[in-house]
Amino acid sequence: MKQGLFITFEGADGTGKTTQIAKVASWLREQGYEVICTREPGGTKAAERIRELVLDAELTISHKTETLLYLAARADHIAQLIRPALQAGKIVLCDRFSDSTFVYQGSGRGVELQTLKMLDDFATSSLHPDLTILLDGEPEELAIRRNARGVVDRFELEGLAFQKKIREAFLALAASEPTRIHVIDALQSEENVLDEILTDLQRLLAK
Ligand code: TYD
Repeated sequence: MKQGLFITFEGADGTGKTTQIAKVASWLREQGYEVICTREPGGTKAAERIRELVLDAELTISHKTETLLYLAARADHIAQLIRPALQAGKIVLCDRFSDSTFVYQGSGRGVELQTLKMLDDFATSSLHPDLTILLDGEPEELAIRRNARGVVDRFELEGLAFQKKIREAFLALAASEPTRIHVIDALQSEENVLDEILTDLQRLLAK
């Protein structure tokens, strides 16, 4: 493997992204691969600082500012961590990436998709994931699952409508790029979700 592999994970809170990323990383390491687990916004010192800023609910920032902060974090993440790791032949597993921008800033905030794609290409120097796993689930079901685990549910009615819009946008994106984005039902058992991810991964590793 000369160039490494870049795999991103997308999906709402409660879909089990973090758990699955950790399991996939262990499996890959057992197979002898070098793996880097990272996240967006974040992953580097500067990008983690931008993360604090962009996720700070006390700050009022415009949609344009928010968009540019996510992209500024991504540009640093790509340059300092992701590209060097891929060039060293490693497998990079990233919790959220460009698709989150297209969905949250695009469908969520109403920023034009064409503008986002142009800015994203600038930030990433057109580096795109080899595979994206979209962990999908009905927002109400995900909320119930989080409640069952004793996690305090922050869903309000307005929040639920937003989550539904976000889900639809992710699914539409997946439908437009079925080769790269694989949708997996996040409401199955953790074992089944992992099996499906590993099947996709094995197919990619065999290429
Ligand atoms: P985080 O607490 O990591 O949420 P989650 O556990 O759901 O991944 O916060 C990341 C938030 O940032 C999440 O609400 C999605 C949002 N986000 C964007 O709006 N645009 C982006 O480009 C990225 C990477 C994330």
